[in-house]
Amino acid sequence: MILELTRRDEFSVITLNRPEALNALNTEMIADIAAAIDEAAKAGTRALLFTGAGGKAFCAGADIKELLGRSVIESKRFAALGQRVFAKLDTLPIPSVAAINGYAFGGGLELALACTFRIATPNAKMGLPEIKLAAIPGYGGTQRLPRVIGEARALEMIMTGRTVAAEEAERIGLVSRIVEGDAVAAGMAFAREFTKYSLPVLALAREAVMRAGDTPISEGLKIEADLNTLAFQTEDVQEGMSAFIEKREAKFKDA
Ligand code: CAA
Repeated sequence: MILELTRRDEFSVITLNRPEALNALNTEMIADIAAAIDEAAKAGTRALLFTGAGGKAFCAGADIKELLGRSVIESKRFAALGQRVFAKLDTLPIPSVAAINGYAFGGGLELALACTFRIATPNAKMGLPEIKLAAIPGYGGTQRLPRVIGEARALEMIMTGRTVAAEEAERIGLVSRIVEGDAVAAGMAFAREFTKYSLPVLALAREAVMRAGDTPISEGLKIEADLNTLAFQTEDVQEGMSAFIEKREAKFKDA
């Protein structure tokens, strides 16, 4: 199986499992990622975690051997497929964490960028090296990287194709944390910092922040007001405020 979906406690873990090709993304794996996201969402997971098998790579990008020799139409179809699947992940109401445990290049970093958060092991190395192949990123890298680290830094990474090590990635906000030991266990601990809260309200917060990237502030503030009003209609907000007043711990029901 080139993709594994496993349950660990309240989380679903998706492991890219082609270590002999540094977990490079071929068409089959991208389709499998879409199916695994749907399956995990149906199973009522509190967060999705992505990682790579083999200890050397998270994912070395799109499978270059598969890309070579593609016609224009095939290339466009493949880019559209990857973009569709990564957009599904990006817009999923369930949060996701990429546990980057080694190389994350090209489509591999783009997968991580479609996750809500990224954490990295100290040996992690990241980049969008497509320019070295005379190509440009095709799975959302040109759109999501500037939103995460800013336009100048993103342009520099994309135009030089240079590799960013874990420490720099943390400094520029490309990853949230550098973690020691088992990347998935660390990802679970990281996810629990927010998945203990109401999942639907977390989704509203995320939607508000994501809309900030593509709307003028006047529109964004209206969206925020609407989503804020929606949050105030949940049972969980009543519980959260009651628990505060009664000086007890809140018990959220995701409702
Ligand atoms: N596609 C297909 N196979 C890949 C691959 C990829 N992206 N990356 C690595 N592999 C394969 C290698 O061909 C090699 O296979 P063989 O043993 O059969 O030769 C195996 O994985 C191990 O790789 P290396 O021997 O190269 O390992 P290394 O430790 O010397 O180097 C690396 C590691 C720096 C990550 C190097 O493999 C590398 O540069 N890989 C390509 C990274 C890249 O350019 N990614 C972008 C792809 S294009 C893309 O992703 C477009 C997009 O936006 C969708």
